[in-house]
Amino acid sequence: MKKLFIKTYGCQMNVYDSVRMAELLAPLGYAPADGAADADMVILNTCHIREKAAEKVYSELGRLKRLKEARAAKGGRMIVAVAGCVAQAEGKEMLARQGAVDIVVGPQSYHRLPEMIARIARGAGHVLETDFPAEDKFDSLPEQRAHVGPAAFLTVQEGCDRFCTFCVVPYTRGNEYSRPVAQVTAEAERLAANGAREITLLGQNVNAYRGIGPDGERWSLALLLAALAKVKGLDRLRYMTSHPSDMSDDLIAAHGDIAALMPFLHLPVQSGSDSVLHAMNRQHTADEYLRIVERVRAARPDLALSSDFIVGFPGESEADFEATLALIRRVGYAQTYSFKYSARPGTPAAAAHNQIPDEVKDARLQVLQALLTEQLHAFNVTCAGRIMPVLFESRGRKDGQALGRSPWLQPVHVEGAAPLIGEIAEVRIEEVQPNSLKGALVRPAVRERVLVQ
Ligand code: 5AD
Ligand code: SF4
Repeated sequence: MKKLFIKTYGCQMNVYDSVRMAELLAPLGYAPADGAADADMVILNTCHIREKAAEKVYSELGRLKRLKEARAAKGGRMIVAVAGCVAQAEGKEMLARQGAVDIVVGPQSYHRLPEMIARIARGAGHVLETDFPAEDKFDSLPEQRAHVGPAAFLTVQEGCDRFCTFCVVPYTRGNEYSRPVAQVTAEAERLAANGAREITLLGQNVNAYRGIGPDGERWSLALLLAALAKVKGLDRLRYMTSHPSDMSDDLIAAHGDIAALMPFLHLPVQSGSDSVLHAMNRQHTADEYLRIVERVRAARPDLALSSDFIVGFPGESEADFEATLALIRRVGYAQTYSFKYSARPGTPAAAAHNQIPDEVKDARLQVLQALLTEQLHAFNVTCAGRIMPVLFESRGRKDGQALGRSPWLQPVHVEGAAPLIGEIAEVRIEEVQPNSLKGALVRPAVRERVLVQ
């Protein structure tokens, strides 16, 4: 038995890829390790979206170098692989700079890991695979999806054609590609058969999904969701991340028509200022975004919203920042992610001359996050006393306690619910805590669909 340790950075798409890599390497005899120290192979599945994310990888590689040397001193061997977006963007330089790295593999090539490991075993110094290969990675991955939790991820779309001026994704992940409908439904059926009750469809621009259907036509995300809602055992569907301009009419309608589609939408707006949105090449105005939000809410009145925000984009004035705060007040978010603008080499915004000083970014981020925290709390408070279906995913810290998720993705702690892991049960919310809810079971678990309230 050999031991494999995968450290995952960044988004859910990396989490999904890490699961697939572990499945791919299991037949080679690799079982999960507890940490890097006792691993025969370590994979860093990396993120390049902001400078800090990339820096973390380099400091981790320094630590791995020492572990690798310690292992070699005892006559052992550790293979170090770097996967994900840093591998894609900086692979060649990384091999030159970091002697500890054996394998560099981009997000489109990780299905080739077994042959890359074999090349290392045969004495190749190091191996680099960062092409966008002609074959479909998903066709080359093993089908078995064992040990699936109640809530699973499923990547249905990769890459992005939108070229927001701050973003590396179109460069690291390439053009938009959608997996065929039949491939997705087959994987969803396997996930459901292995215990998944909820699936989140993933894509860098998932609502631009245009996969080939069994009828030879290109299917929209709305059609795909409708097909997946029919999969036996799947009670909950979600999707992320979406671009506002790709919220098509049929997708908006799907939020009202498909009961399994959870009333929660991550729809990043980044900024509330039209001039910043224009400079970001977001291809919509603040008003257009607000209108889309209105329409999805009309389709699904209990819908809660989530977004990403960037503060301190080049040229962002105090008035632009105020416009972002105003938009946030108009929408009222249940959950959000907010970041300081981080200049990424090779993206258009990185070359702009009107960069914002770090202190200004810090100050704006603080103000923004205070408002967003207030909104998160206000949303949670509206849940107090309500009865809602919770999907239990794991054990809580206390004996018998289980941790689940509400339809709005809030973590919910419930005493005595441990036997219900993998089930959906009605819970009365009794207490609102800063980052989660506490509730009590109202009746025995019934596997059921969430109804529009
Ligand atoms: N700087 C800061 N935040 C960024 N994001 C993407 N690129 C950058 C960058 N250069 C944020 C966006 C995106 C999320 C995934 O990361 O808000 O929606
Ligand atoms: Fe990046 Fe999203 Fe813009 Fe695509 S739509 S370039 S992934 S921020």
